[in-house]
Amino acid sequence: MRVSFAALDLNRTGALVAFIADNGALSATAERLDKVTDGAVSRAAKASRFRGAANRTLSILSPSGIKAARLLLVGLGKAAEFDAVAAQNLGGTIVAALGTAGDEVASVAIDPVSGSKLSAAEFAANAAYGALLRSYRFDRYRTREKAEDKPTLKSITVMVRDPAAARKAFGPLAKVAEGVFLTRDLVSEPANVLYPVSFAARTRALAKLGVQVQVLDRKQMEKLGMGALLGVAQGSAHEARMVALRWNGAPRARNKRPIAFVGKGVTFDTGGISIKPAANMEDMKWDMGGAGVVTGLIHALAARKAKVNAVGVIGLVENMPSATAQRPGDVVKTMSGQTIEVINTDAEGRLVLSDALWWCQERFRPHTVIDLATLTGAIIISLGHHHAGLFANDDKLADWLITAGKATGETVWRMPLDEAYDEQVRSDIADMKNVGGRDGGSVTAAKILQRFIQDGVAWAHLDIAGVTWSSKDKPTVPKGGTAFGVRLLDRLVSDHYEG
Ligand code: BES
Ligand code: MN
Ligand code: ZN
Repeated sequence: MRVSFAALDLNRTGALVAFIADNGALSATAERLDKVTDGAVSRAAKASRFRGAANRTLSILSPSGIKAARLLLVGLGKAAEFDAVAAQNLGGTIVAALGTAGDEVASVAIDPVSGSKLSAAEFAANAAYGALLRSYRFDRYRTREKAEDKPTLKSITVMVRDPAAARKAFGPLAKVAEGVFLTRDLVSEPANVLYPVSFAARTRALAKLGVQVQVLDRKQMEKLGMGALLGVAQGSAHEARMVALRWNGAPRARNKRPIAFVGKGVTFDTGGISIKPAANMEDMKWDMGGAGVVTGLIHALAARKAKVNAVGVIGLVENMPSATAQRPGDVVKTMSGQTIEVINTDAEGRLVLSDALWWCQERFRPHTVIDLATLTGAIIISLGHHHAGLFANDDKLADWLITAGKATGETVWRMPLDEAYDEQVRSDIADMKNVGGRDGGSVTAAKILQRFIQDGVAWAHLDIAGVTWSSKDKPTVPKGGTAFGVRLLDRLVSDHYEG
């Protein structure tokens, strides 16, 4: 979908969009439209239950007095609650309302919202951003879709007093949206198309943004001693890969150590010999969600030329049962030297991350490491689908993530990391076992990851199992892969690690 900005003009064809506040108050534009349509706006509002609640819509077809074929009224909600996320949601709502309705072009009139901290230009930029985010579709494999089922909306013009200011504010947001789309593409791809080697190949496209891409193959990982990651991969016909994506946006910064993002990239998780039940196993194509977010995030940072030194590391494997697969009871040796007894081959994410985290710290010496993983079903039991689980060894980092979550709508909820949980993963034969029983399953998983964090490194782990895929449409996230984490971490970087 094309997005552009222009000055206010009510003389437009296609769909014309105006806002109404929660108390039914017409925006300046809606007021003017009411006049030129001889009261059609206020009459339609009265005849319906539409009162301007946030993200409610009312469509008026071919009103007389204007050129537009449709007038779409959109509820703005309460002015005091109106912020960037609310503006993004409105943009998304507009795309959802018009998407398949027949209009090819839409013009959205933005008036300042009195009582809100958001300027009209920021409102416009965020509405455009939300509209773009909602327009995402993964339709690569639909070859027989009927024309009337396809979205009709091709372009949206956001009209505002100062279009240049809005365009400027939209610039970096459009780059973040590119990263979100890359992540959604990766997460949506089926596992016969996206496997470790093909995933690694796709990351090479980031080189054209100035990202240094390094890919480790099996031999190199063997040499480095990554026995835990390779143990997971050994049952698959697809070879494992490890990818490092390095963005040096602040090369002259005094402190050259980077911030690192590490992603779980299990391109398909059958469970291995501890095989999963058949029901919903297809979901496990998105068990590479963490790696998808890291890839999209580094794309976003590089595309918007963020003034930060950042590195993304993704561990790519497929977890399959076969004659060569690892068995329950096997003991593997990680790159760190610590050994792990593999009680359950389905607890494979922590095995992959143990080596990815260690290699990342050895190779790049980051001051901060944030990992993302669709790690446990237990986090879905704890938090459902509204927050990612946050585990951190550093209170400041945790607070920054919580704040960035609220600012982007990708919210996180902090979980404990007490030493008391360590006992559950004690092994009789190795340094630890890879499962700690059902109780506190997300915490014991995080505690295992923590054993691979080096002294002095600020670390946060985001368990994104509940938020990586959405079974229903949300204002700025069509159902499917959400890319949860790209917006959150881009914001964390811009708030605290740039400049
Ligand atoms: N990839 C799964 C976790 C998962 C479950 C992600 C549902 C998304 C939706 C992970 O590898 C896994 O299988 N975890 C096990 C751990 C258990 C064996 C200790 C789980 O959560 O059941
Ligand atoms: Mn698993
Ligand atoms: Zn998994």
